[in-house]
Amino acid sequence: MQLKANIVGMGIMGSAVARSLKNHPQVRLTAVAESNAERHASICAEFGLESAYTDYIEMLDVEKPEVVFVATPDWAHFAPVMAAFERGIHVYVEKPMTTDVVEAAQIVKKVAETGLKLQVSYNHRWLAPYHAVWEQISGGKIGRPLIGYARKNNPISVPTKMLAAWAKDSSPLWFQSSHDIDLMCWWFDDVPVEVTCRGVKSVLKERFGWDTYDGLQGQVRFQKGGIATFEAAWVYPETHPALPDSFMSVIGERGHLQVDRKDEAVEMSTDDRFSWPRSLLNYKVFERWVGAFPSCIHSFIDAVLEDREPHVTARDGWVVTATIDAMHRSADEGVTVMLPALGSGGK
Ligand SMILES: NC(=O)c1ccc[n+]([C@@H]2O[C@H](COP(=O)([O-])OP(=O)(O)OC[C@H]3O[C@@H](n4cnc5c(N)ncnc54)[C@H](O)[C@@H]3O)[C@@H](O)[C@H]2O)c1
Repeated sequence: MQLKANIVGMGIMGSAVARSLKNHPQVRLTAVAESNAERHASICAEFGLESAYTDYIEMLDVEKPEVVFVATPDWAHFAPVMAAFERGIHVYVEKPMTTDVVEAAQIVKKVAETGLKLQVSYNHRWLAPYHAVWEQISGGKIGRPLIGYARKNNPISVPTKMLAAWAKDSSPLWFQSSHDIDLMCWWFDDVPVEVTCRGVKSVLKERFGWDTYDGLQGQVRFQKGGIATFEAAWVYPETHPALPDSFMSVIGERGHLQVDRKDEAVEMSTDDRFSWPRSLLNYKVFERWVGAFPSCIHSFIDAVLEDREPHVTARDGWVVTATIDAMHRSADEGVTVMLPALGSGGK
């Protein structure tokens, strides 16, 4: 059996999805929708498609895929996800699942009602070192996890060049910490109940006129009593060699674990710069893309084919969205925020 797949949003991640799909024998990319029609010719040339759609609704109605991959900007995931569900199509959605906690709860409800599969692209769970941390903790090697710390910071080129079209409407918590929060909840096997967060708006405001956080630091209290601190900033100088500077640790009752991923194991210096070339998440080894990103996509295809629950569920997506929403409210208003219960419908 071969699943028919479509993609909505053919930017950096949509294109990466299309490349990964080529390597799974039981899926076939039949169409893509990209709202920027000027890019259609180059997309079609790269992926061997005759034409591309501008309107994803038209694509879903004409092509009738079995699975759809949503890779639009952070705040534009909900509408295509729901449009797919209304047509009985399984969904893989880029992280964060949505940037609105009420929308996230509606997605969880829809998955429960329809029995359709949804996987959020928290692909770091497929990165071997992070998976090893989960395995050690869930195997009881450090006892109950008590204290977590996560830092994920990027050079200023990420919001102002790589994501220039939409970063001002997002934040480093959505773009960077969403992965760390998902990992920490998975490692702790727990959900946050309370957050306190502070943020700074200075560099992006002064240099670009954006009302966007340069960075935030937040502390989360989990239901079972553990705590974790998250830091995300995207104003490092462009000369910084890491993309991102990423560090995570967990202290348990009887031990500790940490992953320092910033240098990605490869160091390079040339006449004009020093860098740590990326190779762990999505990297082409001869003819095949390897790493956490293709593994995560292939795992979703397998979940659909085997009719099993994906490893990152809609509920997991809701937890991260609700946590970051609460962190932003805490930073905006200078207060401690309690998380809503899933099922309460909102804030
Ligand atoms: N899982 C990960 O590790 C990871 C890494 C980077 C980015 N992301 C996420 O992936 C998503 C996309 O990020 P990106 O870096 O590819 O952004 P991008 O700006 O490169 O691509 C987004 C694309 O969506 C298109 N688009 C917007 N609205 C559309 C619509 N209604 N219909 C069709 N096309 C539409 C845009 O024209 C653009 O080409 C974001 O949510 C981002 O946070 C995930």
